[in-house]
Amino acid sequence: MTRVNQPRILIASDQEDAARCTADLMQETLREKPAGVLGLATGSTPIGVYRLLVNRHRAGQLDFSDVTTFNLDEYIGLGPEHDQSYRYFMQQQLFDHVNVVRERTHVPNGLAANIPEHVRDYEERIRQAGGIDLQLLGIGNNGHIAFNEPGSAIDSRTRQVDLTEDTIEANSRFFNSAAEVPRHAITMGIGTILESRRIILMATGKAKAKAIRVAIEEPSDPGNPASLLQGHSNLTFVLDPESASELKR
Ligand code: F6R
Repeated sequence: MTRVNQPRILIASDQEDAARCTADLMQETLREKPAGVLGLATGSTPIGVYRLLVNRHRAGQLDFSDVTTFNLDEYIGLGPEHDQSYRYFMQQQLFDHVNVVRERTHVPNGLAANIPEHVRDYEERIRQAGGIDLQLLGIGNNGHIAFNEPGSAIDSRTRQVDLTEDTIEANSRFFNSAAEVPRHAITMGIGTILESRRIILMATGKAKAKAIRVAIEEPSDPGNPASLLQGHSNLTFVLDPESASELKR
């Protein structure tokens, strides 16, 4: 079976090169559209990308003054001052070091009193901003994208979700123990992500190799959330050799 839209697969020479390729694609988007809307991810994978964006901003090559950002997800129960919250991560890794306007940076609020209303509002803000021009994604070892765990629907929207034991275990490396990892999160939905005009999924390291193979080479299936991206008209995988090591085709 031939797919109508084939993803672009860039295999970088190493992890650093993968960060450089991703930063180049983001910079290209902002060169074409200085008031662009970026969808951003947290986690270990994009740290090198944010470092490069900060350096390029300092070198006068990147201006964030008209940029709007929307992050994928946030833990429920963690506020912006908590050092494991995704708002805190974004401030530390990127926002505090570039000239982005704080009011134009959006991360779901893990302390929202009314979550159903908050997630509707989040979607509405994305719409009002004109939609996401470029969405950066990482991938979980179990194929999750954002916090859309296996079983998430292709048309799911921003919502509250339960984290799987796999994800709690993987993310416990940042907490004192697995018991401290929040059990619930707010995540953009897969349907929300698929509306982005361009998607870049970045993966590095051997632990991601199986999830990458399944996402690219297995049939699209809600059991493998990243595989639901297949068919998006502008999807690029940026991989290092280790994460690409199980690709057969
Ligand atoms: C983070 C996110 C997650 C991560 C994924 C990979 O905002 O949405 O889906 O992208 O868990 O995390 P790392 O990069 O730490 O391996």
